[in-house]
Amino acid sequence: MDLLLLEKTLLGLFLSVVLAIAISKLRGKRFKLPPGPLPVPIFGNWLQVGDDLNHRNLTDLAKKFGDIFLLRMGQRNLVVVSSPELAKEVLHTQGVEFGSRTRNVVFDIFTGKGQDMVFTVYGEHWRKMRRIMTVPFFTNKNLRLLESKLANTKSTTNEGLKCAIDHILDAQQKGEINEDNVLYIVENINVAAIETTLWSIEWGIAELVNHPEIQRKLRNELDTVLGPGVPITEPDTQKLPYLQAVVKETLRLRMTIPLLVPHMNLHDAKLAGYDIPAESKILVNAWWLANNPANWKNPEEFRPERFLEEESKVEANGNDFKYLPFGAGRRSCPGIILALPILGITIGRLVQNFELLPPPGQSKLDTSEKGGQFSLHILKHSTIVVKPRVF
Ligand code: HEM
Repeated sequence: MDLLLLEKTLLGLFLSVVLAIAISKLRGKRFKLPPGPLPVPIFGNWLQVGDDLNHRNLTDLAKKFGDIFLLRMGQRNLVVVSSPELAKEVLHTQGVEFGSRTRNVVFDIFTGKGQDMVFTVYGEHWRKMRRIMTVPFFTNKNLRLLESKLANTKSTTNEGLKCAIDHILDAQQKGEINEDNVLYIVENINVAAIETTLWSIEWGIAELVNHPEIQRKLRNELDTVLGPGVPITEPDTQKLPYLQAVVKETLRLRMTIPLLVPHMNLHDAKLAGYDIPAESKILVNAWWLANNPANWKNPEEFRPERFLEEESKVEANGNDFKYLPFGAGRRSCPGIILALPILGITIGRLVQNFELLPPPGQSKLDTSEKGGQFSLHILKHSTIVVKPRVF
């Protein structure tokens, strides 16, 4: 009796494997899919590539399979693009087609099935949320308030934030969004705004500690342009090209969202002559675009001068598709307008007032990175010496 059951189970298993192979063969015939490692039925490429899809592993795969390749992660297609041309196609030229976001059970829980903004599909809800979320943050008035808040370390008022929250609550009262949407906006800001900015500041400090000559040059610029001890404020950042270059170089070498936030095509699409089945997850390997020696001179070096010399036309706003720390196009980061001044002011203030040094007995900080699919941050937090300057 038991043997019969075993026989039936084995037969059932065999038939499902044959069926899965037949289906994947049929699919393969219908679509001209991008190249990639050969998937096995049911598991796809899980067993070959594992689940550590960080920017470096994906770069190795791009070197093997090309600027566009496909991984089958279980039932989901994952398409990875690794050239400025293809990044432009995904983010700009076909920005609507590839402008949605993937979802899974975990995101559904955190976003109430896409009621937020960062992870919602491209459409009316996203448009509304983006407008409500970005308008209050990015009016000039609020930037000035934020600046004055940062300038007077005795925290003035929380007015900037209050205005923003008021605006969002107004939208709720007018019935444009519901209470859940408000909560998800706040949650999005927590994730998208605070962590990314903090990680970038930490990377910037670490690089300045490890490159004392760059730190000196930056301090010299601040002292010369503003006068020793005159605290930097937001409008000053425009007059400080070396400070801007330090910020850009930090965001290039230590890109905190190295694969952008995954994009998705709602419908079947075409990319680089290949078919991209509907609901594929699309990753843009922005870290590799900004660290590929084919595009940059000695990219592994922390050298802010590159942004004043050979790359002087490259901005952080996505004007050049080899440098996309904030993405580009419709789903690009609306927070860039806050993040850049915050980084400039924070790093500027520190360097104006202190010498940033490694701990005694240590010549360099450990800048090993911890990279995942969504983030790139420093592996070990270090303690540094902060030596006040005497003016
Ligand atoms: C150094 C700081 C920051 C970095 C490096 C950064 C980077 C990014 C990147 C790479 C994306 C995804 C772009 C794409 O998928 O194509 C993104 C999206 C987003 N960021 Fe930022 N960000 C930063 C700070 C902020 C701040 C301060 C805010 C808000 C105040 C913010 C709000 C958002 C939102 C709402 C999205 C989703 C946009 C959408 O899906 O339409 N970010 N950010």
